[in-house]
Amino acid sequence: MTGRARRLRPAVWIGLAAVLAPARQASAEFGDPIRGQSLFVEKTCVQCHAVRGTGGRIGPDLGRTAVKGSFFELASGMWNHSPVMTRKMGEVQIARPSFEKGELADLIAFLYFLNYFDEPGDPNIGKVLFAQKHCIQCHRLGREGGTAGPRLDRLPRGTPPLSIARALWNHGPVMVPAIRRVGLDVPKFEGSEIVDLFAYLRGQGERRAAREFRSSGDPERGRVLYATKGCARCHALFGRGRSFGPDLGRSELRGSVTQLAGRMWNHWPAMSEAMESVGMSPPSFQGEEMADLFAYLFLSRYDGGPGDLARGKAIYLQRGCAACHGQNGEGNIGPALRTVTTGEAKERIAERMWNHAAKMSDKMSTYSVPWPHLESGEMADLFTFLAEGWKR
Ligand code: HEC
Ligand code: HEC
Ligand code: HEC
Ligand code: HEC
Repeated sequence: MTGRARRLRPAVWIGLAAVLAPARQASAEFGDPIRGQSLFVEKTCVQCHAVRGTGGRIGPDLGRTAVKGSFFELASGMWNHSPVMTRKMGEVQIARPSFEKGELADLIAFLYFLNYFDEPGDPNIGKVLFAQKHCIQCHRLGREGGTAGPRLDRLPRGTPPLSIARALWNHGPVMVPAIRRVGLDVPKFEGSEIVDLFAYLRGQGERRAAREFRSSGDPERGRVLYATKGCARCHALFGRGRSFGPDLGRSELRGSVTQLAGRMWNHWPAMSEAMESVGMSPPSFQGEEMADLFAYLFLSRYDGGPGDLARGKAIYLQRGCAACHGQNGEGNIGPALRTVTTGEAKERIAERMWNHAAKMSDKMSTYSVPWPHLESGEMADLFTFLAEGWKR
């Protein structure tokens, strides 16, 4: 193994154990990201792929590209690129890896989770933003800044970013009108701005250490909070529930947990208005509630929306699967599938397809069937059909 195959950024894993157990309870097939991290090295992925800068350069950096979406986005990424990956593996003489029970789920859990934790943030950029976003006009830091709002240099150093986001949100009802009174726009945060800004605030704070435990959130508690804080009154999740505001499963909520909090804050003006119109006041958050809520939203996105059985069937018939595996999955050039995929979890179906992709690809060239490219939604539909469509 080359020197590249060193362990990846252990800092990422701080707090992971706390979220792991509840995460795996919430989704039975959710893999073990810590095992996935080792597999990323063992299965040679690291020879071609970096994860946020560490690792090979032959394929794309998976910390920057693939790790943004649901299980299906990751799995369809691997599937669609499979022919090119296989060819490259041949060129650099790496044996194409296959996966034993559950290994692919672990690997995908690893890639998926990477995105959840904040990057450290750049306090120098944060300092510029503190002025640019006009925070400095109302908040004192050291000797500088206005006095309309509370000092922001009293936070213990190392306060978790999400606690600052929580404070920002909870003070919205007073702060937003104060901002409007002086004729400013309510600040919005793009990309990693909120992480940089908070990195600056964390560094300016008092020297005593933060006593607060940095939790990664408990998705089960988050599920309950989603209802009790009123989110469910306005936001459907993948079409389930009522949608007055955007469907939070379908909206492109990408980025780390603090970036998600930033996204929610950006909508404060419209959201608080909407809340007023239905006669509720904006909920406030105590303790770890915000972390719990985002852990829930984050894991909901892992599963993606429910697939559509009828559309899945159409894909099966039209993309050549039926030609090789039979109209009813009874088998033909390829093996029978109905006995194999019925009732299987999406992780297992993806694993089977990946393991057999090389031979499938050979047969496809023989019969001139083009490699079936699957968008993530199509893959969700197809897997729903493979798992449930043959029961009757
Ligand atoms: C020999 C080099 C090589 C190895 C080993 C390799 N890959 Fe790849 N991978 C590539 C290349 C090259 C691409 C881009 C292919 C393309 O552009 O079509 C890619 C693309 C991907 C993508 C899609 C990225 C995107 O932006 O959608 C994923 C996901 C992926 N690889 C995961 C893996 C995993 C997981 C492993 C380990 C099991 C692995 N790869 C092993 C070379 C490799
Ligand atoms: C026009 C004045 C004004 C501006 C501009 C402003 N704030 Fe505030 N901020 C306030 C006021 C007033 C409060 C106190 C609200 C309350 O008492 O509930 C506050 C409260 C806060 C709190 C909670 C502090 C605590 O002790 O819990 C945070 C965090 C915060 N602001 C961050 C920011 C950031 C970051 C920016 C820039 C993006 C910003 N504020 C811009 C007036 C402002
Ligand atoms: C009374 C209705 C209402 C309630 C209650 C509500 N929201 Fe919203 N929310 C909205 C509306 C409307 C928007 C779109 C605002 C806009 O367009 O700027 C929105 C936007 C959002 C966004 C941004 C979505 C995107 O696509 O960027 C997030 C995240 C969000 N809400 C989370 C929550 C959470 C979490 C809760 C519960 C604590 C909640 N909302 C409660 C109405 C509501
Ligand atoms: C050109 C023929 C061909 C096409 C088209 C084809 N397959 Fe296959 N498939 C095969 C062959 C051959 C195998 C067995 C490969 C092996 O033994 O390693 C296989 C294996 C599989 C397996 C693994 C079965 C097991 O026992 O684990 C799955 C799942 C699968 N295919 C699904 C699909 C799906 C879904 C499609 C459509 C997107 C598809 N196949 C298209 C030929 C094909």
